[in-house]
Formats: sequence, structure tokens, C-alpha cells
Amino acid sequence: MHAILVLATLVKCLLIPTYHSTDFEVHRNWMAITHSLPFSQWYKNATSEWTLDYPPFFAWFEKALSSMAALMDPDMLRIQRDPLFNETVLFYQRGTVIVSELVLYWGLCRYLKVDRTTANALMVASVFLHPGLWIVDHIHFQYNGLLYGILVHSLVEARKQRYLTCAALFATLLNFKHIYLYIAPAYFVYLLGAYCFIDGTSKFSVARFSATGAVVIAVFALSLAPIIYTGQVPDLVSRLFPFTRGLCHAYWAPNIWALYAGLDRVLIIGAKKLGWAYDVAAVASMTRGYVGDTVFAVLPTVEAFHTLIITVLVQMLVLQVMWRKPTFDNFISSLTLCGFASYMFGWHVHEKAIMIVLVPYSFMAAKSKFHLRVFTILSSAGIVSLFPLLFQIQETPIKVLLTSMWYMTLFPGLCYCLQTKLRELLSLMECLYIMGLLLVGIFVTSGHHLIFGDQYEFLPLMLTSVYCAVGVVYGWVMLMYAHLAQL
Ligand SMILES: *[C@@H]1O[C@H](CO)[C@@H](O)[C@H](O)[C@H]1NC(C)=O
Ligand SMILES: *[C@@H]1O[C@H](CO)[C@@H](O)[C@H](O)[C@H]1NC(C)=O
Repeated sequence: MHAILVLATLVKCLLIPTYHSTDFEVHRNWMAITHSLPFSQWYKNATSEWTLDYPPFFAWFEKALSSMAALMDPDMLRIQRDPLFNETVLFYQRGTVIVSELVLYWGLCRYLKVDRTTANALMVASVFLHPGLWIVDHIHFQYNGLLYGILVHSLVEARKQRYLTCAALFATLLNFKHIYLYIAPAYFVYLLGAYCFIDGTSKFSVARFSATGAVVIAVFALSLAPIIYTGQVPDLVSRLFPFTRGLCHAYWAPNIWALYAGLDRVLIIGAKKLGWAYDVAAVASMTRGYVGDTVFAVLPTVEAFHTLIITVLVQMLVLQVMWRKPTFDNFISSLTLCGFASYMFGWHVHEKAIMIVLVPYSFMAAKSKFHLRVFTILSSAGIVSLFPLLFQIQETPIKVLLTSMWYMTLFPGLCYCLQTKLRELLSLMECLYIMGLLLVGIFVTSGHHLIFGDQYEFLPLMLTSVYCAVGVVYGWVMLMYAHLAQL
């Protein structure tokens, strides 16, 4: 493991000058806010449009980063409307991502200690070297390594049956980033079933239940009491839950709604030919250059309320299984599927959210041939769906190379551990699908331009979304089926 860490860190250093997104300025601004303003202003100040919109623990994390940055160069911590970017900022911020990812590394090492098999070692290394993390954290710029690190630590505690520490760590994670609320139902039911009901019997322990509740409330109190005290509750709520956005993100995350929106686009063509009524404004929005908002021309509109109902219903179905048999394996599987339900049916899902499925699912990938098969399909579709985050041509070789290297070491290795062959793992259709991803990649990077020139600019993104969505939905169905078959 340590050799991997050294090597990976060196490669990450090489990636420092690559493309970085506006998230770079977002986090610089958050450092600036937490450094130069009193706590009571953190969630109020809106000088820069990139306002602080993560929960308080993350804000304190930025505060810690800014204190160190201040020792280096306090000038880079100015609150200003326009982005501030130069080499000092670049090196410092990239460095913080690399260092904070050690939390993940540490968590994975602990997980490996519990279960020292070759397959597990491969799996653990694959999470640390996940192409999704390279793309989203080290190039695009975010701190997912740190966050998934906390998640892995809480899984380790669950595995060791130290349920209170597990609950405390997960509550901490929620106060770093609230997207993990999606998987909170799985934690709730698991702690209830495996811990509060003693040894799988129907004997309910009030003491254990109260202890769990007290731990969670204590963590939340630590995070939220200062917010309440300084009267920032309305500001925090409106920033954490902005309900004004549309169903899909500008680039459709490859889920059910991407297929739905894709179908709508196909139906427009039919509607034109057959003279059905359709919404002309919606067609205009589609050809505006990128796959835009979520106005549907033919199919009925989807409201936030619908997505919520579907997500909750699917999650309840998933949790049924764990409720009856609260084992650790079922916990991981339910955790994955709870995240998956939100990704699949949620409102305004970002493509980056696929990591909330891929990371927990990695912990099951080496369990059986079936899971390795689903993992192969999901990872392929999921990682390719992240490629548009790095849209510049010079990053193309990097993302392709990193992904292929990961693939070529991980899958043959895992197949060897499970004593199967890569050829026998997937069906012909599945192999063809994965090869199709390559074709999509080629079309997006060069084919589209050669064939259509500047016409149909929305096509590459739309094709990526819809094609990846097919694989993701397929994987979801297989996984749901296997999970529910235990009922
Ligand atoms: C934000 O902070 C800056 C720097 O202290 C200050 O000039 C500005 O007025 C503040 N804006 C708001 C909306 O509080
Ligand atoms: C980057 O900008 C900051 C703030 O203006 C400045 O203090 C620092 O010297 C700059 N660094 C470089 C390498 O130009």
C-alpha cells in the first residue's frame, strides 16, 4: 500500500497544472470568508457569487486550511468579486487536496487490516486510485477523498461492531457535506437493526437506542449550536437546500431522467412528422448549444415532489431486506442502493454523484462473480460519464490513460482472485456495450466535429448521457434484483 501512496502522490503532483474548474475559486473564496470574517458572517456574506454552501464542519475545515495559507501568503485570502488565481493559489490548493486525501488512505488501510485477502487488497487500492477521484478531485477540484475517507472510517467501525463510533463518524460526515443524507436511511436502519435490537432478536434495548441518539445529537449540536447562536439558520438552510434548480443539471447525469429526456427528444422528431402537439419553446431550448434545462416538449413534466416520492419508495424497498437481516454485507449493499436510488431518481443530480454509488459498491465488488460483473459495467459507464467534466482536449489523454491503467490492473486481478476469466465474466451484449463506450468517446472527442462540424453542438453531451444511462440503469436493475431476491 505504501508504495502505491508514494507513486500516486507523485502522479498527483504532475497533475497540478492541469485544467481546474470554478470549484477552485469556490474553495479559495471559502477560505477567504472563513479567514477574514467573524463566524456570524460566514453564511451571510455574498460578495463573491460562490457563497459558502456546505455545512459548518466543512467551513471549519476551510478555516483550518486558511490559517495555514495565511502563514504562506495572507494576500491570497482576499474576499473579492472576481476570481483570484495564480501559482501560489494553485499549488497551495492542489496540495490541500492531496494531503487531505490521506484520510481516505488511512481508512482504507484500516479496512484492509480487518480482512487481509488479496482480493480485498486489490479492492482497497482500487478505491484509492479510483479514476473518479482523479478526475473530480485532482483535476476538476473537490475534496471527495477526505469525505469518502470519513465514510470508510465509519464502515470500518461498523465492521468492527463499534456502532457508536460508526454513528458519530457518519454524523460528522453529514456535517461536512449534506449530500450524504441520501445514504442516511441505510445507516439508520442498520444501527437500529444490528445494534438497538440485541443480536438480531426482537429485544429492543432502550439504553443502546438512547446512546446512539445522544451521540448523533451531540455531533449535530457541536455543528449547529454556533449557527443558531449567531442567527444564521435561515441563511444556512437556504444555501444547503436551493430548491430553485431544475430536474436535470446542464449536463444530464446518466440516470432515469436522462433516458426520459432522451426519449422526449426522440418523440419531438416523431411529433413533427405526425403533427402531434408539442412545446415549441422546449425544442428551442434543446438546440441552444448544450443540453439545457428540463423543459419537456412531449412527455409530462416531472416535479421535485415526484422525484422525492419515488426515491423514498425505492429506498424503503431496499431497506426492507436489511431490516430482516441486518448483516454487514447487507448494510453495504443497502448503502449502495440507497445512494443509487437518489442518483437514479433524485432532483437535480450532478454527474459527480455517481461516486456515492461506485465507492461503497467497491466494497462488494470482490465478493462474487455476479458483483464483479455488475461492478465492471457500472464503473465503465459511471467513469465515462465523468469525462465531460474535463472537456479540454489536452486532458483527454490523461483521463483515458488513468482510466485504462486502473482497468487493466484491477479487473484481471480481481478475476484471478475469483478464479474466473474476464471473457467469461461478461455476456456478449455487455462486452459490446463497454466497447461502445469507446466509440462514444471517439465520437465525442473528434468524430462529431468531423461529421457535423459546428452543427448539433448538444449532441456529444446528450449521447454520452443517454449511452451511459443505459449501462447505469442496467446495473441498477441487476443489483436491485439480487438484493431483493433475498427477501
Ligand atoms: C462581505 O465581506 C466583505 C469583506 O469584509 C465586505 O466588504 C462586504 O460588505 C461583505 N458583504 C456582505 C453582503 O456582508
Ligand atoms: C498570487 O497572488 C497573491 C495575492 O495577490 C500574491 O500575494 C502572490 O504573490 C501571487 N503569487 C504569485 C506567484 O504571483
